[in-house]
Order: sequence, then C-alpha cells, then structure tokens
Amino acid sequence: MKILKIQGGHKLSGTVRISGAKNSAVALIPATLLADDKITLCNIPNILDIDNLEKTLNYLDVKVNRASESLVIDTTTMENKEIPEELSSKLRASYYFMSVLLAKYRYVKMHFPGGCKIGSRPIDQTLKAFRLLGATIEEKDDIYTIYASELKGNTIPLDMPSVGATINAILVAVLAKGTTIIKNAAREPEITDLINMLNKMGAKISGIGTNEITIEGVEKLHGCNHDIIPDRIEAGTYTIIGTLLGNYLKIDNIIPLHIKSLTDKLEEMGVNLEIHDDYLIVDSSNKLVSTSLETAVYPGFPTDLQQPFVTLLTQAKGKSIITEKIYENRFMNIPYLNKMGANIHIDNKQATILGPTKLKGTEVEATDLRAGASLLIAGLVANGETTIKEINHLLRGYEEIGEKLTNIGAKIEIKEI
Ligand code: EPU
Repeated sequence: MKILKIQGGHKLSGTVRISGAKNSAVALIPATLLADDKITLCNIPNILDIDNLEKTLNYLDVKVNRASESLVIDTTTMENKEIPEELSSKLRASYYFMSVLLAKYRYVKMHFPGGCKIGSRPIDQTLKAFRLLGATIEEKDDIYTIYASELKGNTIPLDMPSVGATINAILVAVLAKGTTIIKNAAREPEITDLINMLNKMGAKISGIGTNEITIEGVEKLHGCNHDIIPDRIEAGTYTIIGTLLGNYLKIDNIIPLHIKSLTDKLEEMGVNLEIHDDYLIVDSSNKLVSTSLETAVYPGFPTDLQQPFVTLLTQAKGKSIITEKIYENRFMNIPYLNKMGANIHIDNKQATILGPTKLKGTEVEATDLRAGASLLIAGLVANGETTIKEINHLLRGYEEIGEKLTNIGAKIEIKEI
C-alpha cells in the first residue's frame, strides 16, 4: 500500500502547472478506437487511470505508443474481445469501450464498470440510449451482452443530464445511420472536448456546449491530432490549496471559465484572486468567511470539488452549509476531517461546517479520489504530521501530486509500505 506523509503548515509559492483533464482523457482514449487509423492525443495526464486504459487498449490488440504527455493510438490491428472484469472494474470510464465496440462491431460483451464508491451510480441512461439507437441488451450477473443488426439515429431524452450517458450516446450515434438528437444532455467541458475531437475525426456533431446535441451519423471516422483541455478539477484543487497557503501562488495552464463557479465563490468569501487568460494567482487569506452552496451539473459548482471545498470551509469564520446534489455518498472524508479537529455535522445530503477550527495531523484514509484531495489539503494546513493511507485513489486522478506540491514548498512524501 502507498501512503502519503505531510508535515503541515508550510506556505506555498511558485507555479503549479495543471495537467490534461482526467475526465476528458478517459473518454477521448476509448473514442479514438472509432477511427480506422492513427490518432495522436497530447496533454495526456500521467495518472493511474490512464495506465489502466492503456492496459485495455493492449488487451484489444490496439498499438499504443506513450511518451511523457502524448499517446499515439493505432487501431488497425484492433480486435473486438470481451473486456475482463479485472480491467473494467478499475474505473468508471471503462464503459466508454462498451459504446465504441458496439458502434464499430455492432456487438460487445462487458462487465459493469468500476469507479469511486460515491453512490449507486447506475447505468440505466446509457442502456436507454443504446436501446433507442437499436441495440438489444442482455444482462446476467452484471455482464452485459449488447448487439444490433443496425444502429439507427433517434431522439434520446435523458432523464438527467448524465455525463457518462451523454458521452456513451454520442459515441454510438456518430456511427449510427441518420440523425440522433440527445435532449437534456450534460454540458461539461469534457463533453465539448470529446465532440471537438470527434468532429476532427470526421463526425458531424452540432449543439456543442448546449443541452441539445445533434449528431448526423457517418460511415467512417479517421485519425487526427488533438490536445486535451486542462483539468478543471485539478486547477480548482490547487486554487483551494492556494487560498489556504498560497504566497502569490501561480496556477498555470487553466481555462478560467471552467472554474468560474469556484472562483466566484472564493471571491464572495473574501479571497484575493488575479485571474488572467490562462493562469491565476492566489494569495492565502486569513479572513475567510463562511458560505453555503449546492453541487450541480456544469456550469454549477462541481461535485468533484465539493470535498476539497469542505476542507477550505473548516478554516472560514461562521457556519457553512454544503448540499451534495449529485451523489448520495460523497461525505466519506468528513469523519476523518473531524478526527483532525474539524467541526462538521452531516445530515443526509447536507454537511454543516462550523469554523474556523485548528486542524492537527493524524492518520486518515483516502476512501475515494476527491476524499483523498480533501484530506491532503487538510494535511497541508494541519499542525504536525498527517499520514494518508490508500492513496492510490488520489494517484488515480492527480498527476505527480508529490512532485508538484514539493516544488512549491510543501513537505510531503509518498512511501510504499
Ligand atoms: N445517474 C443515473 N443513471 C445513469 C447515469 C447517472 O442515475 O444512467 C446518476 C448518477 O448516479 C449520479 C448522477 O446521475 O447520481 C450523475 O452521474 P453522471 O453520469 O453525470 O456521472 P459519471 O459520468 O458517472 C462523471 C465523472 C465524475 C463526476 C461526474 C459528475 C468521469 C469518468 N467521471 O461521472 O468524476 O463526478 O461525471 O460531474 O467522467 C471524479 O473525477 O472524481 C468523478 C467521480
């Protein structure tokens, strides 16, 4: 097991460069398989989720050439095989392979996808989209066999703007016959990134960035070069860290619009931010005031920043209330924050935080990716030493977190025990 040790209380200065977006990369990599030749993806984050996707590509006999930040994917030798549970259970995004294999071969057999245990996370909307596009689905013991003699465009009204279902519907519809309209589609920037890449590959998708996406099916898709957008959740996490400990800390390579819901909140709380075209500068503030918010789909406040933000609120004066609207189990960091000295009460979907409270280092556990980020931030602020166990969850989503934090002055060490 890997653990992380942090000596808290050090001010942070210099520059953190934000990596390519995890949740874009994990969709774009499977999407490349729709092409009949080579695709080059740049700005690939060096994280465990990408290592796991690479294993699936190898398993499907796809040729992969990975350099430090790029991935060249050649599909000419690819074969359609049943992806074993051992691979599909590693991450949620493995179900994007379901869509691309269905779109390309009209047949796929795969296990239910994995991902952080932050709620029930059903896939009913994806299956609904597959059915509306003409597929038949057989399910036994969490293994899905999905096939179609022909995939045909249709109107797909999603019950909720699910990121995964929107992506899966797009991935199948691009190679289906005729026109598909996805209504109540999710609008997250990672979906826009996917559509931009697919259009470069020859797809005909319009309605980019809106909740109604129209796809004119095409017969074939070809290769292209594509740069993945910067990771807005990594950018938000470091901005929160800077709010607590920054000394003119620069968060570089960001798209400010993508984190506007966070920066607006921080400014409302009294944080001094300098926002430029592709970077921001943040200074710590010891006059943070409490606030309340609800998580929401984009462009609302992202659920993925909720747990890091709760740590910030432990240092704000007054009573803050956070309502988690997307997942039913995304407060698993809170018992550990309380163990470190926070005063947080959970009532169903709401966390009430009374601050400011002094945090002290102790032993905690990263139960999921963003819980890990929340505890890491707490450890950076706390007095003394914090040990975080199970940090593989954290390494799934944050590139070189130890190096990036050490470079700006944090005292942090990753150990194998
Ligand atoms: N939902 C359903 N049925 C469905 C699909 C979703 O009920 O068929 C529900 C889910 O249970 C959840 C809500 O709708 O309560 C939102 O789920 P969504 O499908 O939008 O999320 P996802 O595609 O599974 C992606 C990100 C998550 C991020 C969410 C919301 C990836 C690989 N994952 O998940 O990222 O929290 O969108 O923005 O893109 C993370 O990075 O830590 C992470 C969990």
